[in-house]
Amino acid sequence: MSTATTVGTQPPADLSMNETPYPPLPSIRRIVENGAGALQRYPDRTSSALVGALSARLGVGPEAILVGPGSAGLCQHLVQALGPKPEVVHPALSFEGYPLIIRNVGARGVPVPMDGYRHDLPAMAAAVTDQTRCVLLCNPNNPTGAVLHRDEIEDFLARVPADVPVIIDEAYREFVTDPQVPDGMDLYRAHGNVCVLRTFSKAYGLAALRVGYAVVPPRVTPLAAMTGAVFFPNSLAQAAAVASLDEAVTPELTRRCAELAVSRSRLIDDLRGLGLTVAPSEANFVWLPLGERATPFADRAREAGILVMAIPGAGVRITVGTGEANARLCAFVRTALAAGL
Ligand SMILES: Cc1ncc(COP(=O)(O)O)c(C=O)c1O
Repeated sequence: MSTATTVGTQPPADLSMNETPYPPLPSIRRIVENGAGALQRYPDRTSSALVGALSARLGVGPEAILVGPGSAGLCQHLVQALGPKPEVVHPALSFEGYPLIIRNVGARGVPVPMDGYRHDLPAMAAAVTDQTRCVLLCNPNNPTGAVLHRDEIEDFLARVPADVPVIIDEAYREFVTDPQVPDGMDLYRAHGNVCVLRTFSKAYGLAALRVGYAVVPPRVTPLAAMTGAVFFPNSLAQAAAVASLDEAVTPELTRRCAELAVSRSRLIDDLRGLGLTVAPSEANFVWLPLGERATPFADRAREAGILVMAIPGAGVRITVGTGEANARLCAFVRTALAAGL
């Protein structure tokens, strides 16, 4: 858990973790509370109810679906299962977990520098060799918020050998409003080497429970099964995720994502209005390419009771929070810029 200075009586605003600003839906909260009565029991290691619900929702067979304790854990499971070739091609600057995941499974990262805020897909395709285990794409990208469009991913996939798996991490997919961003499931159906990685942590608001899923081509299923013995979510996570896929709660979750996209636009406009450069974002966070000012910005924000994530020398990632937290952030920025930050 992160810490920030409490300013006066105001609790800190944590805008560093890309969490949803919304509390759990009452129906989901009830499921977790009721589940506490059976904590002595092991979870279903096949996550059968969740796999069944995802299979119905996504229109793919249950054998194509892997569920795991958060999509980061599942990503590691998948990268491990796809061995033994040593190299994993990934964008840099992207999710800070990728280099760790790659190291954890004994693979070697091949980081490909960004083209501005975006993946450099031609360079990533050129980095694929006969040593490549898999490629990671992040759409929208964490931390820059940039998206990849359908046609450019199709061009990329046409250049990558059909036996090299491409994992498309769609952790923030539900916040996308740009119609040119493909649904990873369409790419999955059209290509035999695409894996789609998603999470219940962000738009579904279940980060504390740790549950995510992947949709994988048939040849990956047995590989994943061989290394997957310990990679299943806990019972409460499984139950909450199943309930989150229920049609009864879909409209409210969709409404929240739409509302968040509106807050995102407003926050970007407000920060730009204050004189900051803000990258376009299709996720639930914004990216300020502050360069060397990133660390002092984050330090000053912490002193003001606001947590943001700094990448030293590159920039600061700020989660879109409640209206109150966003207003507090803008007030801080106004004061900090006036003081010469
Ligand atoms: C791009 C991306 N992928 C995966 C994750 C991991 O999410 P979780 O393990 O909570 O599903 C994150 C978390 O911030 C992320 O930003």
